[in-house]
Amino acid sequence: MKVLGISGSPRKNSNTDILVKAVLRGAGEAGHDTEFIKLNDIDMQACQACDYCRESSERRCKLEDEGSSVLDRTMDCDVLVFGSPVYMAGLSAQAKAYIDRWYSFKDSNRITKIKGNKKVIGVYAQGAKDGTYHRLFETNERLFNSNNFEYLGTLVSTEYRVPEEGSDLFEKAYQAGIAL
Ligand SMILES: Cc1cc2nc3c(=O)[nH]c(=O)nc-3n(C[C@H](O)[C@H](O)[C@H](O)COP(=O)(O)O)c2cc1C
Repeated sequence: MKVLGISGSPRKNSNTDILVKAVLRGAGEAGHDTEFIKLNDIDMQACQACDYCRESSERRCKLEDEGSSVLDRTMDCDVLVFGSPVYMAGLSAQAKAYIDRWYSFKDSNRITKIKGNKKVIGVYAQGAKDGTYHRLFETNERLFNSNNFEYLGTLVSTEYRVPEEGSDLFEKAYQAGIAL
């Protein structure tokens, strides 16, 4: 299987990166192909609401940037590991720009263009205590489900804790990758 890991954190070796990469490490050891993309390092514009993508089920996002290539790879993967820090009770700007461009995955009848059964794991990092942002995570879960991505679960680094190798959270992420 192709396992695509995405991090919306701008920080180097961030908590989100560590957890997404831990899942990918497990997936790699289980024999899957893995790829990691740090959205802050690519050229990705925000959705321009041109609606070109919605005019037919064959159409893709019209923007000619690396963001469109990430969307193609999202459509092509079997498992997505989507990661974002919590910023102002929402996603980071980088992660939100990527998620907004999922608009192009649906046609004018809001039928998804994504075929088959894909899977997704949600990864988040926050300063607040566990449970604070469950609604945010559930909103993203609904978006994923409506695009044929089955939600496998959520991994959250809370209270600014670094999910170091050897920690329970790191192990949970690694095992989630092994289990794919
Ligand atoms: C601009 C900004 C906004 C933030 N807003 C929140 C917030 O609303 N709630 C929260 O719990 N933590 C907030 N934080 C803390 C981050 O979520 C926390 O540091 C997290 O570990 C960052 O993830 P990263 O290590 O993957 O970059 C914010 C941090 C920044 C820089």
